[in-house]
Amino acid sequence: REDGETPRAPGRLVVASNRQPYRHEYGEDGGIEVDAPTGGLTAGLDPVVSSSGGTWIAWGDGEADREVADDEGRVAVPPGEESYTLQRVWLPEAAVEGYYYGFSNRVLWPICHEFVDLIDHRPEDRDWYRHVNREFADAIVDHADEESVVWLQDYHLGLAPAMVSEAVPPETTVAQFWHIPWPRAGAFRAVPDGRELLEGLLGNDLLGFHVESYVATFLDCVEEFVPGAAVDRETAIVGHGDGETRVVATPMGVDAESYDERSRAVDRSQWERLKERYDLPTEATVAVGVDRLDYTKGIPERLAAIEELLAEYPRWRGEFTFVQKGTPSRTDIPAYRDLGEQVRSEVARINDRFGTDDWRPIVYTEEFFSQEELCALYRYADAMIVSPLLDGMNLVSQEYVAASVDGGALVLSERAGATEVLGEDVYTIDPAATDSFAATIDEALSAPEAERTARMDRLREHVFDHDLEWWMDRQFDEIARCRNDGADRDGG
Ligand code: G6P
Repeated sequence: REDGETPRAPGRLVVASNRQPYRHEYGEDGGIEVDAPTGGLTAGLDPVVSSSGGTWIAWGDGEADREVADDEGRVAVPPGEESYTLQRVWLPEAAVEGYYYGFSNRVLWPICHEFVDLIDHRPEDRDWYRHVNREFADAIVDHADEESVVWLQDYHLGLAPAMVSEAVPPETTVAQFWHIPWPRAGAFRAVPDGRELLEGLLGNDLLGFHVESYVATFLDCVEEFVPGAAVDRETAIVGHGDGETRVVATPMGVDAESYDERSRAVDRSQWERLKERYDLPTEATVAVGVDRLDYTKGIPERLAAIEELLAEYPRWRGEFTFVQKGTPSRTDIPAYRDLGEQVRSEVARINDRFGTDDWRPIVYTEEFFSQEELCALYRYADAMIVSPLLDGMNLVSQEYVAASVDGGALVLSERAGATEVLGEDVYTIDPAATDSFAATIDEALSAPEAERTARMDRLREHVFDHDLEWWMDRQFDEIARCRNDGADRDGG
């Protein structure tokens, strides 16, 4: 593939994910507006599906989504180009509650992140998860033929692959990328009917994770919970029945170039406006945090480290401001609402303890930031602090690096997949060890500029060399390999 060309899928793509790439909504004048992807996987994959001319299957939500779709839930996208089909799956409220808020986010999400205390399992949720996986599988089968590459995304669709592979021609390739961690067998044991989930995933010809440690824990679970499956540790291939699943680690990247470009396009006045809006001192040293409000992100631990920094390194008082942007998420689930309350009250308490008439140590906001505002924040902040207790990858940390065109420093948890790939140029912390966490923030902020720049330059090189397109190419290479192996086996 030439540089700058869209990655080419090894067949007609049928992508399936819980979230859809385009969402239709009623505007203020009552007309229908379309919300196009601005970042992340959907934005990266959209042109690829466009050029392979395939289908994207996803949960369709709301009246406007229904109004623009045909009787079968189909709508041609992107608007104006209409080069592929978005197939919406309609889910009644009870299905959303059981499959999305229930089994996906009250059972699988906490277990995969090893928060077993937060599991909240209601038996009917598992039935809804099965039911919705069946709906997705049926939609996939409707769109797939011998030429197709089915590519499922993430933990919402753990049972669909086996349902699909039973129904499509043997030439069709079924692949999946699991974007969150895979837990150790001890935590996995808590998944109700865990074996069914593993067998669902073994319906894939290819199963991708971000890092090798998740491949290893997945293979451990297969060995322990799926009798009869043959796990080859050398090749990471699992044989089961007449099928084979290749398990690979391909760390996901971000669209580094567009963050770099957008960041170069912002100027200081945008940063000045943000400083004014949030009352930041003109000369302060600024660190940022940008997260969904999720208990896996270690936000309370981060606030504790900031408090410790101000207590133990008093020279930062009045000189340092931490800006935390939180995006409310999954707020129907009590654990998420509780976290929001905890974060807001901790910020208030720390600001009360250290703040003065003209300095607030922590600025916390849940306001929407445009891509330009985010890039201004990333570009002009002195550091970013990312402190998850467990995170499959953490793409925000890579976006910060890509946007840090004039340097900066990344303080990153040793428990994020991103640390395994970014290596020693991040300032690594253990989010639960408050003292050393605070000491590392101090170190990152006060390191000589030459050291900070050298480290950031190397991080940037890595993030650019392993960007979103690189990741897609690697997935597609692996899929092509499965297709060839399959053809050889079938004597093709
Ligand atoms: C994680 C998951 C994604 C999910 C995202 C936002 O990154 O891996 O699949 O889309 O969180 O969460 P939400 O529940 O709003 O889709």
